[in-house]
Amino acid sequence: MRPTSRIAGFYARPLAERVAHVQPTLSPQAGAWLARGGGLDVATADRMSENVIGTTGLPLALALNLRVNQRDYLVPMAVEEPSVVAAASAAARMARLGGGFTGDADPSLMTAQIHVDGCADPGAAPATIAALAEELCALGDAAIPRMVARGGGCRAARARVLDDAEGAVVVELDVDVGDAMGANLIDTVAEAVAPRIADALDGHALLRILTNLALGRRARARCELTADAVGGDAVADGIARASRFAELDVARAVTHNKGVMNGVDAAAVALGQDWRAIEAGAHGFAALTGGYRPLATWRRTATGLVGAIELPLALGLVGGGTQAPGVRAALELVAVTSTQELAIVLAAIGLASNLAALRALAGEGIQRGHMRLHARRLAGVAP
Ligand code: MEV
Repeated sequence: MRPTSRIAGFYARPLAERVAHVQPTLSPQAGAWLARGGGLDVATADRMSENVIGTTGLPLALALNLRVNQRDYLVPMAVEEPSVVAAASAAARMARLGGGFTGDADPSLMTAQIHVDGCADPGAAPATIAALAEELCALGDAAIPRMVARGGGCRAARARVLDDAEGAVVVELDVDVGDAMGANLIDTVAEAVAPRIADALDGHALLRILTNLALGRRARARCELTADAVGGDAVADGIARASRFAELDVARAVTHNKGVMNGVDAAAVALGQDWRAIEAGAHGFAALTGGYRPLATWRRTATGLVGAIELPLALGLVGGGTQAPGVRAALELVAVTSTQELAIVLAAIGLASNLAALRALAGEGIQRGHMRLHARRLAGVAP
């Protein structure tokens, strides 16, 4: 059975007890890794990067209380900033009172970009590529046979004119990458189809790379809370007004989104995800309409608040950094079976982090909250 994410008094227990609590749910390897205090051995680190001279560390913590689509999740978080984990857990507990979060995520479509310039007739490119789409998808699929065997592969091809005078065109191929993050697969496809595209457009294929604006791979989460759950009508009003402030002002929207990414990034780092790609995609998505927008918003309802978040999340459960021992342990803890499920959990923890920040900011202010948490931690009291 799935363990509950509501673990009373977890915060106040000694570290060894917290480890002992989760250990029975883990594989022997993950359990042993956690019992050793986690970390990354230098020999593994040496295989992961170049010019390695050691390893660095971050606390690995668990955000509690998260319930999404009627399932409980323990969310591993790696972050240096105090209060981030407690804040996400506290907000997830408020959301839990109303049944938790709901969410959904797109299929795993990533997009390859082939940049072609010096095209003889750029205006003809969209029609030329539309006519070639099937052939390009077949060429792309031939370069990633194992992904095709697992049910993924190229799904569509199209061209956009970037600059008529320069003959600059971009050709994009959408590829279903299944449970991979997909960067290597996409780059392989881009390189495989580029010569055929350059030939068809009578131009020079230059860049062949994925876009990190993973618009085909968005996740959404939502929750409804009563005003009482956040501390009363005045607090609920304050949260909705704070959300509106982020819609009205770019400088605030950036900080608002930083609060969202406190949760998303911390979980992404613990779970071995490419957090630079997630960051780049999130902020590109926030700016998609031309102005920079909040990724999460809160509105008053008759009884309380409704919050919603949407962002692109290119995540992987296989390949990349997911093989490191600590990442395997973190993946066992969060216990998801698909990248869609993981994306929904990350969207929900982002929304929870945002709620916690707005509640503190619209109430007593972030500093008093921080200091109280700090004092509580020193006293060993649950938040
Ligand atoms: C601090 O890490 C994050 C906040 O600044 C987010 C926000 O202002 O909404 C508190």
